[in-house]
Amino acid sequence: MEHVKKRNLILIGFMGTGKSSVGKMLAEMMNYTFVDTDSYIESKAGSSIPEIFASSGEEVFRQLEQEAIQEILQGDGQVVSTGGGCVLRESNRVAMLAGGQVIALTADADSIIARVSQDPNRPLLQGNVEERVHTLLEQRKDVYRFADLTIDTTDLTVDTIVGIILGHHR
Ligand code: S3P
Repeated sequence: MEHVKKRNLILIGFMGTGKSSVGKMLAEMMNYTFVDTDSYIESKAGSSIPEIFASSGEEVFRQLEQEAIQEILQGDGQVVSTGGGCVLRESNRVAMLAGGQVIALTADADSIIARVSQDPNRPLLQGNVEERVHTLLEQRKDVYRFADLTIDTTDLTVDTIVGIILGHHR
């Protein structure tokens, strides 16, 4: 029987694992549309992720994120880069597995800290970044495991990661 390709490629992973950089290049190479759940939420809400967290709190953000996932995954031929906490709701995990091939990107704590330290736009990493990353990584250590494919990006370039995914998605 001919192998039937899944409809979308969905990137999951902790903050700073490279979902956006990898997703953009992957979408270009595959001629798929690139969609980022955070950008989708921001344009729909008309405010930035930090503003949503500050004015409405994390639960409201998670609700918007759930709606975004449901809506985006109605579509086809997309590379979807998700927010790092998107995997926390079971309904999102179910929707992602049904909506395409799920690829998890991982990285060690030091690489994550180095990558996110440059960026002030992550509400969950306010305060002591190192401490926040270690705490959240521990809390989330099992939640990315449902993926169809997992790639440790610690020592890999974006090009190499994209190559691995393309090789897997034939
Ligand atoms: C979050 C990750 C962020 C963004 C929000 C919450 C998380 O996305 O959705 O700040 O809970 O891990 P990135 O993974 O793209 O940074």
